[in-house]
Order: sequence, then structure tokens, then C-alpha cells
Amino acid sequence: MKKPMKVVVTGAAGQIGYSLLFRICAGEVFGKDQPINLWLLERNNETSIKAVRGVMMELDDCAFPLLASLNSTSDPVECFEGADVAFLVGARPRSKDMQRKDLIEANARIFIEQGKAIDQSSNKNIKVLVVGNPCNTNAYIARRCAPSINPRNFTAMMRLDHNRALTQLAQKYDCAVDEITDLVVWGNHGNTMYPDLNQTKIGEKKVADTLDATWYTDNFTPTVAKRGSAIIEARGHSSAASAANAAIDHVRDWVLGSNDQWVTMAVPSDGSYGVPEGLVFGFPCICKDGDYQIVQGLQLTEEQKAGIARNIVALEEERKIVDELIG
Ligand code: NAD
Ligand code: LMR
Repeated sequence: MKKPMKVVVTGAAGQIGYSLLFRICAGEVFGKDQPINLWLLERNNETSIKAVRGVMMELDDCAFPLLASLNSTSDPVECFEGADVAFLVGARPRSKDMQRKDLIEANARIFIEQGKAIDQSSNKNIKVLVVGNPCNTNAYIARRCAPSINPRNFTAMMRLDHNRALTQLAQKYDCAVDEITDLVVWGNHGNTMYPDLNQTKIGEKKVADTLDATWYTDNFTPTVAKRGSAIIEARGHSSAASAANAAIDHVRDWVLGSNDQWVTMAVPSDGSYGVPEGLVFGFPCICKDGDYQIVQGLQLTEEQKAGIARNIVALEEERKIVDELIG
């Protein structure tokens, strides 16, 4: 048996936590031979503490063979001590009529505190996925507050947008999602996100050769970009099971590899494709050997450059606000 790894999930008593924890413990992220020491971080109030206790009872009742130990705390420094992987989920979700960026003020302090705690106590190779919104900018905040950790290790979740785009395309072309390759959603997990089909293939066929431009502009792009709002409108709560599923896809591929396939990950820019360094930006990535690489060498069209540019503007605006908050 392998040595257990320490995995932290924040916001463990929330909606996404409830869909995520059981699948992590069933081995869907780190593999069926990887035991875990699971640590749950929740807020220090009676309701959250009671709720997390209930979740822990249920985890116990599953008798997961891979769950080597289970703990909870409200102290981030204790929680992140020696952590190998962290899912930063705990944050306020938006309600109807809000944009994700409207959450900056409510959620920024969470990621300042947790970034500092990661810096202080985690494994220096920790892999971090930020789910809490606005996730790109929250990952940027946590990264800035953790100068002793490699910036590359702070990522944000755009896999849900990627998965949404896959299904919309599969439904349009009446194909299976796993026949689709080389799809990416560039930029920010916000209204400006740019789902890009320029390189996408279904089997051997390039989608661009038969693309219905009106469908792409009037249907596909807004459906993907506004799916979060549509779900809030329909369910009265933001996406949870699909968000947990995307978090699993993101971290599993990062740790175990993406089999040479493109996946969308929001990662700190290294300047690729003209994206200013440090912005946490959705790029096409390939994961291998526990690491990711931004796909290089794409010859971008003017349309692609414009799609990327509008996301740079959106994320620069958020960066300006949080740079002032962080000081
Ligand atoms: P929720 O309200 O159901 O749960 C959030 C949990 O976080 C609560 O239990 C709360 O007590 C906890 N929490 C708040 N502050 C905390 C802190 N400082 N430390 C630890 N725990 C804390 O919300 P949810 O539906 O699970 O969504 C969580 C976040 O994920 C929201 O910000 C939401 O917008 C975001 N989200 C992102 C994506 C994405 O694709 N990136 C998708 C869906 C949801
Ligand atoms: C989503 O895309 O479903 C999440 O980011 C939740 C939201 O606020 O839209």
C-alpha cells in the first residue's frame, strides 16, 4: 500500500463539499491504491461545526478502505499542515442577479487567510485547486499570499466550463463527448470566458470546417458562459454536483495525467499567448507526471486573440481591486 497523502477540502459542509468528499474517498481522484488523510476546514460557528460533524459521520459510515484518517478543524494553519493537495471550495456563492466578480469583497479575505496558512504550514509542493468564486482571482490572491510555494501550484477551476462546452458540442453534432478533442475555454470563469472550437476535432474531423457560425455565436457561447446563472435560476442554488465532478476531473488529471488530451485549467500565466504574467487564466493544458504544461505553438486567429484579450481586461480589473486589498 502507498503512503497516505494529506488532502484538504475547505467548505466541507457546503453543497459542493457534499458531492465531492465521498468521491475523493472512493478513489476517484488519486487512484484506487492511494490512501488519504482527509482534513476538512469549516467556519468556526455552531451551525458549520455541527454540519461538518454530520458529514464526518456519513464518511465514517461508508467504511472507505482508502480513508486512512479523517479530521476537521476551523484553524487553517492546522488544516494545511503538511498538506499535499487542497481543494479550496469554502466561499460564498452568488445569488440571482449577481455576477461572480461581485463576490470579490465577500470572499477575498478567505483566500488571503488561507494563502498565508498554506505558506506557513503546507507541503511546499502542495497542489491547490480554487473553486470558490471568483475562482481565478481567488487563486491569484492565495498565490500572492503564499510566496514560499511555487506559483504554478495555484490553479483555478475552469473544467466545469470545459465540460459544459463538451456536452453542448456533442449534442449539436450527435457524437459522444469522448470523441471530442482539442477544445478549450480561455480566460476567466466569468461572463467573458471564451469557449474556442478553432482547433477542436470530433474524431479526425475539424469542427471549424463545418461550424454553424450562428449557432456558435448565438447559442453555444452564451449557453456555456451563462450556464452557472441558468442553474441558479432553475435550482435556486448554484451548481454543486457538476462542480464537484469538474473538481475531480481537474485534480485527477493533474495528478494522474490527461493522456495527452487537452484539458482547460486556469493557471498562473507565464506570458503564453500574450497573457500578462501571473494572471490565473484558462489555457489549454496537457498533464503528465504530476505536472501540467500550457499547450504551446498555436497560431491564433484575430477572433481568438480578441477572445483572449477581453478576458485579460476582465482579470486585470479584478487584479487591480485585490492588489489594493492585499496591499
Ligand atoms: P455553500 O454555501 O453550499 O458552501 C460553502 C461552505 O463554505 C459553507 O459550508 C461555509 O460554511 C464554508 N465556508 C465559508 N467560509 C469558509 C472559510 N473561511 N473556511 C472554511 N469554510 C468556509 O457553497 P457551494 O455551493 O459549495 O459553493 C462554494 C463556492 O464554489 C462558491 O463560491 C461558488 O460560487 C463556487 N463555485 C465555483 C464553481 C466553479 O466552476 N469554479 C462552480 C460552482 C460553485
Ligand atoms: C457555475 O459556473 O456554476 C458556478 O461558478 C456558480 C455560479 O455562480 O455560476
